[in-house]
Amino acid sequence: MRHLTRPQLRNCNTAHFKKRIRLLRAAAIVTTTLVTGCDGLSDDSTDNNNNANNTEIVDIGTIRTISVNGTVLSSLPQNPLNPPEASVALGRMLFWDPILSGNQDVACASCHLPEFGYTDGRRRSAGVGGVGSGPARSPGQIGQITRNSQSVVNTVWNGINEFGVFNPNTAPMFWDGRTTSLEAQAIEPILSREEMRGDNFTEAEILTEIINRINRVSEYQAMFETAYGSSQANIGNVAQALADFQRTLVANNTPFDRYLRGDTNAMSNAQINGMQEFVEHDCAECHSGPMFSDFELHVLGVAEANGLNTPDTGNGNFAFRTPSLRQLAFTAPYFHGGQEVDLNDAIDFYDNNNNSDNPNVANNQLDPDFRNIPNLNNNEINAIEAFLSALNDGAFDRTRPDRVPSGLNVGGAID
Ligand code: HEC
Ligand code: HEC
Repeated sequence: MRHLTRPQLRNCNTAHFKKRIRLLRAAAIVTTTLVTGCDGLSDDSTDNNNNANNTEIVDIGTIRTISVNGTVLSSLPQNPLNPPEASVALGRMLFWDPILSGNQDVACASCHLPEFGYTDGRRRSAGVGGVGSGPARSPGQIGQITRNSQSVVNTVWNGINEFGVFNPNTAPMFWDGRTTSLEAQAIEPILSREEMRGDNFTEAEILTEIINRINRVSEYQAMFETAYGSSQANIGNVAQALADFQRTLVANNTPFDRYLRGDTNAMSNAQINGMQEFVEHDCAECHSGPMFSDFELHVLGVAEANGLNTPDTGNGNFAFRTPSLRQLAFTAPYFHGGQEVDLNDAIDFYDNNNNSDNPNVANNQLDPDFRNIPNLNNNEINAIEAFLSALNDGAFDRTRPDRVPSGLNVGGAID
């Protein structure tokens, strides 16, 4: 991916940083020890090619960490990657344009709306034939899909570890991590019968169909020319533009991030206390790193989503990917099938961690890190909820374009 800046690692001595974190763990320091990560975003635009095995490790530095009882929590980087403007502008149009769906009625934005933190506010998403937006959207004949919509905010950082290192090519996507990278992810909803494709085109036909459509719109021709030096769309540059646009949707200035950057008043006492409870109840065993996710799969035995004829098996083993705990104020309902509408109830779920809620998952299949969570009383649940409220940043880009180049309804049939 030519556009990603590739900072020079020598500006950020990761080995040294790791050692400091190990020392901190050993010291078991109680809260509020601020540790500066590696500073300085070094933009080396000449060194911009993937290396031989097609991996690209990005370390943009500037994350900060805090050791709570020896467990390290990390802020998000302050400097987002800056994908090329023309590609972002094009991606924004494609994201909102139902031209990408078989019946030209569903856009990416139909299920990823700014007012719901770029989810759809529903337990389970409704794609093809759906009308309206949010919980009130009525599903079409094909019905709802099996899963809860994930936010695309901060997905630029999917896969980031506690040292601020991540790899856009291997960034895990979806509740079961079955796809990696934003580029590869972008094709999947277009191919999906329930989400965007519908019944008028086969999987083998749909990509050619949408590319031909886009290439007939002169405004798109001009935008592709500016962004990629050729007026012709292809599935590669469509995916690239969608990925680049999503990389600009960031929310990295939460009270927690500001607190770690030195604003000691940014978090309330209740939130600081909740941070302690969060660590003491082992939440950070999985909800770790700047995204509060290890991006690994875990079996929690969450109950089946309502109304599913066949169980959602996750990766085949009822394991689901740890979601980020950022932006939860905007992204209810929670869990892979929207099982919990209320955040307090979602936290309370962890008090019953010895019994599987899913008849297909035996108790002894539950993740050990889940089973080891100490009991939670109401005060502790409320404290953790207070901490999670320090992980919201409402200042993300909520732009809804006035029009899209195809002239179709902006966002699909959402009004
Ligand atoms: C019908 C609703 C719907 C539409 C349309 C839709 N999505 Fe999604 N999106 C979802 C759901 C549901 C998930 C989780 C799916 C899963 O885990 O299998 C998801 C997941 C994602 C993710 C993964 C986020 C993460 O952290 O793993 C990204 C990125 C994304 N969508 C972007 C897009 C783009 C780009 C488009 C348009 C090309 C699109 N979506 C169209 C509902 C939708
Ligand atoms: C063993 C790993 C693990 C531990 C420990 C853990 N979680 Fe989770 N968490 C997950 C996974 C995996 C999911 C998604 C499960 C699903 O949807 O089936 C999840 C989902 C959530 C959600 C829903 C988020 C959303 O966007 O839907 C919340 C809230 C949450 N966890 C909070 C906590 C809290 C609070 C604790 C500590 C009491 C905790 N977690 C401990 C792995 C873990």
